[in-house]
Amino acid sequence: MVAVELLTLGLALAIFLSVFRRNTARPRDDTLTVYDPAIARSALIVDHGDAFANRPSPPTRPGRPVRHSISSLPYGPAWRAVRSNLTGDILRRARLGAFAPLEREAAEALVAGVSAALGASDVAVRHIVHRAIFGLIARLCFGDDIDARDLGNMRRVLEEFFDSYAVVKASESSWLARLRQWRLRRRYAGTYGRLDEAFMPTVMARRRHLTTHQGGNGGGLRPHLDSLLELRVPTDDDDGEHSRRALTDAEVVMFVWEFLGAGTLSLMSCVEWTLAHLAAKPEIQEKLHREVAAGDQGKDDAAASALRLPYLHAVVLESLRLHPPVPFVVREVHAEGIALGKAVVPPGGARVRFVLGAIGRDGQVWSDPEEFRPERFLDGGEGEGVSLVPGQKEIIKMMPFGAGRRHCPGVAMGMAHIKCFLAELVREFEWAPPVEGGIDFTEVDGFRKSMKTPLRVRITRRSYPK
Ligand code: HEM
Ligand SMILES: *[C@@H]1O[C@H](CO)[C@@H](O)[C@H](O)[C@H]1NC(C)=O
Repeated sequence: MVAVELLTLGLALAIFLSVFRRNTARPRDDTLTVYDPAIARSALIVDHGDAFANRPSPPTRPGRPVRHSISSLPYGPAWRAVRSNLTGDILRRARLGAFAPLEREAAEALVAGVSAALGASDVAVRHIVHRAIFGLIARLCFGDDIDARDLGNMRRVLEEFFDSYAVVKASESSWLARLRQWRLRRRYAGTYGRLDEAFMPTVMARRRHLTTHQGGNGGGLRPHLDSLLELRVPTDDDDGEHSRRALTDAEVVMFVWEFLGAGTLSLMSCVEWTLAHLAAKPEIQEKLHREVAAGDQGKDDAAASALRLPYLHAVVLESLRLHPPVPFVVREVHAEGIALGKAVVPPGGARVRFVLGAIGRDGQVWSDPEEFRPERFLDGGEGEGVSLVPGQKEIIKMMPFGAGRRHCPGVAMGMAHIKCFLAELVREFEWAPPVEGGIDFTEVDGFRKSMKTPLRVRITRRSYPK
């Protein structure tokens, strides 16, 4: 009896809270959604680039300062300093091929990971891919002398964030779902705390190391973390050389976690979606295998040669067009009166959301837009010569890396890693749908666009290790 009363009371409380919260929460109808590539081009690139240069600020908690990453910093000197250091330093070295040996090692680790799973009838590949990609990005970020246990810990925190985010966002709309997912939601709310726990010791130890050994890593790979620790950013609005300051440990943690997250999760999503399509379409897989195997004289150059394979490039583009790993590009816009098609930015501003999946599937641009058909990107196809990041002069056909002032700085590195990994996976293994159930192409739009049912595949080895 008492139990029933308690239950009734609890239920009443939950209903009251959900109604109360709905009434007090900031109304969400100030979000404008854009599906049309022409409107995206006008807003982000051609007409209103400056007004569309900020993302919404991250959530604040009372008494705590906002914690920024590059993607959330307001458009201005501090953002410019951190972003240009990233692009001018580690991402530039990546573009110049400085990390090809590391890529090759990571690809070999990936093959070893898949090989170890071959005994099972259907293999879930997501975590195997994540482990390999994460290992690579982590080496770029921390150098070689990071503790394997610390790394494992970081990888788990990231993966946990990734897994809970989609569920938490999906459950936001109804109180019943919120109630059902309370455990996951509580864990999700603790993400920042666990991030600090996982990253702070490494950041602090490296700072101590750098102050005692001036720039000392013996001429080896200079890790991204060192750049962050030595970087001086302008204070406030002053872009001059006079008032610059070092980043705090808490800030460095955010940039490190952004680097690891941005660098791995999108790649993992793209590789998983691509493998799903290759498993479903053996003729495309065979064509790709032939190209990869033929371009394979001297395996030493595998990472570099993967970059030049046109069909591989087309396959990756087709995957990014259909399943852009970052589902939405979001901007916080204050310029009242800008027209977005029929909608207008209201007084007080708006949050504008560009739906990348819709933009890539526009029927005005693409024939059979829902079809996975890499050939459309080859010479003479409707997607021939399409830019990864749309420029000033072209119409937008797809924008998986965003567009305008805040487009993704990791385009070249992301593409290089994806191609290197896919080439290796297709060269070594044959991919087929699982024994039972087929492949479910349903998407979930969370922090990344992921497969609702994580991919399971039947894998056979094509060649045996020499
Ligand atoms: C397939 C791989 C990747 C995809 C599809 C991707 C996609 C995106 C997209 C759509 C955005 C938002 C752009 C906009 O708002 O206009 C973005 C931003 C960003 N990405 Fe990537 N990304 C990838 C890989 C990477 C890599 C490897 C890095 C670096 C390690 C990276 C770092 C960033 C950063 C720092 C931002 C924020 C930029 C800013 O606000 O100035 N991304 N990415
Ligand atoms: C990035 O910052 C580090 C530390 O200040 C510096 O040594 C490096 O030259 C910078 N690179 C670029 C391209 O800004």
